Amino acid sequence: MSQTKPIGIFDSGIGGLTVANAVISRLPKEQIIYFGDTVHLPYGDKSKDSINYYALRITRYLLDKGCKAIVIACNTASAAAYRTLVDFFDRETIIVNVVDPLVEAAIKRNARKVGIIGTKLTIESGVYQQQLHTLAPEMEVTALPTPLLAPMIEEGFINNSVSNVVLKEYLHHAMFDGMDALLLACTHYALIKPQIQDLLPGVEIIDTADTTARYLQRQLSEHQLLNTFPQQEEHHFIVSDFTPTFEETTALFFKDAVHLEEDNIWRQQKW
Ligand code: DGL
Repeated sequence: MSQTKPIGIFDSGIGGLTVANAVISRLPKEQIIYFGDTVHLPYGDKSKDSINYYALRITRYLLDKGCKAIVIACNTASAAAYRTLVDFFDRETIIVNVVDPLVEAAIKRNARKVGIIGTKLTIESGVYQQQLHTLAPEMEVTALPTPLLAPMIEEGFINNSVSNVVLKEYLHHAMFDGMDALLLACTHYALIKPQIQDLLPGVEIIDTADTTARYLQRQLSEHQLLNTFPQQEEHHFIVSDFTPTFEETTALFFKDAVHLEEDNIWRQQKW
């Protein structure tokens, strides 16, 4: 029965665990198969063509594992490859990205001026700016690439003097004056949401984790794919390249340490 099949979630690495965690909390009856493409991390500096290729291959892999839906738990991959994945796999599965839920949240809040921060690719793709412009033409939108933030968070620089200096440099920028909402368009940034909130009192800070989980719940429900049976199967967390550091860092993104399995889908031949 398709309702009991797993949900496939993928990211460039382990940042997407913030989304996986929110999905598991919101939908405890669902089984998750998570794939982090640590061989190619980070996606934020890669070309759109490369990310399209990675996303196609990973989606095929998750569908071959029997997944009933695919969540692109990465803003960069959502910005670069969502359309391609829909073109290829629309008939086989439902595909949820992290851009649509954030855009929807910004519009629901009736924001007059919205700021966006994310990786270079996400911001330069213009995907958020275009969608907001189409759906809310009167909304003022301003976006800044903040490439230092993801590696800073991975290194555990959260809520300390270093991250404060970096965040102030990015966020106390004249372009953000007068905004009423800031979209955290990178999976990692959910971890520094309280620190950003302290620097921007009165601004609504919206991240990808729970917004995406809620959006996925709606999509599964509309397609009669929500699992109503007790969950029997274990979740799987797979990476294309295993290192002990990746496994240790999962605790940061998932709230609990996660056991990572390795499956290097890029290796043509095992030596
Ligand atoms: N997970 C990516 C995102 O949400 C950030 C890390 C990367 O550059 O791969 O954009």
